[in-house]
Amino acid sequence: MNNLARALAPAPEHPEPPPQNPASTPTGPAVTVLFGSHTGNSERLARRIVERLDARAVPHQLLDMLECRKTHLQETKVLLVVVSTHGDGEPPERALPLSELLNGRKAPRLEHVKFSVLALGDSSYEKFCETGRQFDARLEALGAVRLQPRTECDVDFEAPAERWMDSVIERLEEALGEPRVAGISRPAPSRSTPKPAPAVDVYTRKNPLHAAVLINQRLTAAGSSKDVRHIELSIEGANLHYEPGDALGVVARNPVGSVEALLAALPFDAQAPTDTGGGGTIPLREALIERHDIGPVKAAFLKRYARAIQSPDLAALIDAGGTRLAAHMRERHLLDVIAEHGVARLGPQEFLALLPPLTPRLYSIASSPRATPDEIHLTVGVVEYTALQR
Ligand SMILES: Cc1cc2nc3c(=O)[nH]c(=O)nc-3n(C[C@H](O)[C@H](O)[C@H](O)COP(=O)(O)O)c2cc1C
Repeated sequence: MNNLARALAPAPEHPEPPPQNPASTPTGPAVTVLFGSHTGNSERLARRIVERLDARAVPHQLLDMLECRKTHLQETKVLLVVVSTHGDGEPPERALPLSELLNGRKAPRLEHVKFSVLALGDSSYEKFCETGRQFDARLEALGAVRLQPRTECDVDFEAPAERWMDSVIERLEEALGEPRVAGISRPAPSRSTPKPAPAVDVYTRKNPLHAAVLINQRLTAAGSSKDVRHIELSIEGANLHYEPGDALGVVARNPVGSVEALLAALPFDAQAPTDTGGGGTIPLREALIERHDIGPVKAAFLKRYARAIQSPDLAALIDAGGTRLAAHMRERHLLDVIAEHGVARLGPQEFLALLPPLTPRLYSIASSPRATPDEIHLTVGVVEYTALQR
């Protein structure tokens, strides 16, 4: 069995027996903020909780799941878990050892712990927030008591994450049995890893940095079937700090030609106003270029779509699952599905609501800030293929 399969294996029937006097066990900081992150979102949110705990002088420790040991769990009163899901419903790599510990024979009993889970994910994946769900269920099975129900966040995680933090902070007062000290300015006793908040906080999906492309050079030979590019981006004056191996999120737009082809297959006016979600409207055409994934379809989309247009053919295909469904999805982009099945009586807004959001594409940074402080270099493979004669 590989690491991952082990980590997700069913829990043993007899984890360690409860301590004799669980209430007297905790001796460490009152609150442990534990994050399991691959691309930094969960870590950033965990650091934000820590700032709030600092402001209230609540003793705490901030821990990467990779560094979390059994004693950390045994010594804390409150465990706040922020964790994302990766792969096909799998924990981030740095969360695997902890996942194994909690699911193994030596898992500690946690009756003395109050906990809450903030799960990050992307609803276009079939196993949405799976890792957060598993941590939540496992902590409960080990005897820990929920301080606040789990919150599951989609790609727009900021607002739900803030709401989760607000409620958690409010409930901490009860859990710790101490009055809250608001607005205190001295640093709280804490064991947080002293690391500055990553500078990427300044630039977000909604407020991206506009970086000029300095070089876009093909690395592979002209006759090669592979097209691998060396890309250099300018970050001069952007005050963006990074380390080699950090991931850079590139906010993509859909090609205008693909959007025009999709609009030609849809019975909607390209200029029909659609909600931005922030109180405003934008034309359908712009929403399809800037905001929604119109590429290859995933199972989660097909399910929503089949339900919305009430298609028995598609429902049967989804029920069949397995290789037939996988082969169907491998060949089809959104345009192909719409051309085959239409949109029944859906309006433009209902149609957009079915589509996954267009998320930033993540690329590992290949350059070193010491060698090129004003540039970020990426190595990018161009993926081109023919399906359904296109
Ligand atoms: C390669 C990859 C696979 C992913 N797989 C899933 C998944 O199976 N389920 C899910 O809910 N989210 C999935 N996500 C979305 C991430 O959980 C989401 O982007 C999250 O905000 C990442 O948080 P992190 O930066 O803390 O790792 C995936 C993201 C990537 C890049």
